[in-house]
Amino acid sequence: MKKTSRRVVIAGNWKMNMTPSAAKAAIEATAALVKGKDGCDVVLCVPFIDVATAVEAARGTNVKIGAQNVHFEKKGAFTGEISADMLTEAGVEYVIVGHSERRQYFGETDETVNKRTRAGLDAGLKVIMCLGEVLAERQAGITEEIVSMQTKLDLAGIPEEQLKNLIIAYEPVWAIGTGLTATPDQAEEVCCLIRKVVAGLYSEAAAEALTIQYGGSMNDGNAAELLAKVDVDGGLIGGASLVPEKFAKIVDAAQA
Ligand code: 13P
Repeated sequence: MKKTSRRVVIAGNWKMNMTPSAAKAAIEATAALVKGKDGCDVVLCVPFIDVATAVEAARGTNVKIGAQNVHFEKKGAFTGEISADMLTEAGVEYVIVGHSERRQYFGETDETVNKRTRAGLDAGLKVIMCLGEVLAERQAGITEEIVSMQTKLDLAGIPEEQLKNLIIAYEPVWAIGTGLTATPDQAEEVCCLIRKVVAGLYSEAAAEALTIQYGGSMNDGNAAELLAKVDVDGGLIGGASLVPEKFAKIVDAAQA
């Protein structure tokens, strides 16, 4: 399968930015700029508190709304957490799981990433599952081992038929919020590796159909060359997704 037959997904991760009123304005501005740009899926992953406003503001546009985390239990005594059913009922279509900031600051492990991914997929959400090496691991020459291990652990027990709702985001931790982007060749090398690991776990067909994003200081200046790589099927964008004009330019770069 050629890259062109995979769905390209450009997703913004707003992280802990935007109050509901700011979210409304940003979504309306983004939606106006990306109108009719249907060469890729356009997603904005917003803070939980913004979900209701965001879903309303995105209604009738080609912007889809995602959340930034989901709990793995269906309900119960888990103070501060949000379930997959709560998200779907609120109109959320996508959810980010396993972001490096969750792993780094909130004790997320491959085991919990796997459980959250399964809960999201079981509820019918499209899950953007993040993984990637830290700087020390790249410098030690173990990127391949780390990324392979994360891919295998994070996908444990997920049946092949659920992969149609899964996106893997390769986010080298050293490139996040640092302005240090992986070169297009570095991004391609690891996205290609992830695809090979998925082929080994499942099948060539499943791996070929899987959307694999790159994330880490992607912006309107470097998106085109990253997205030109055959195994890079989109982007997960932090800082630049907060500025509708910049984010829309990345969407433009994905229209090929
Ligand atoms: P930046 O684009 O700000 O580097 O963030 C990337 C990221 O973490 C997206 O999830």
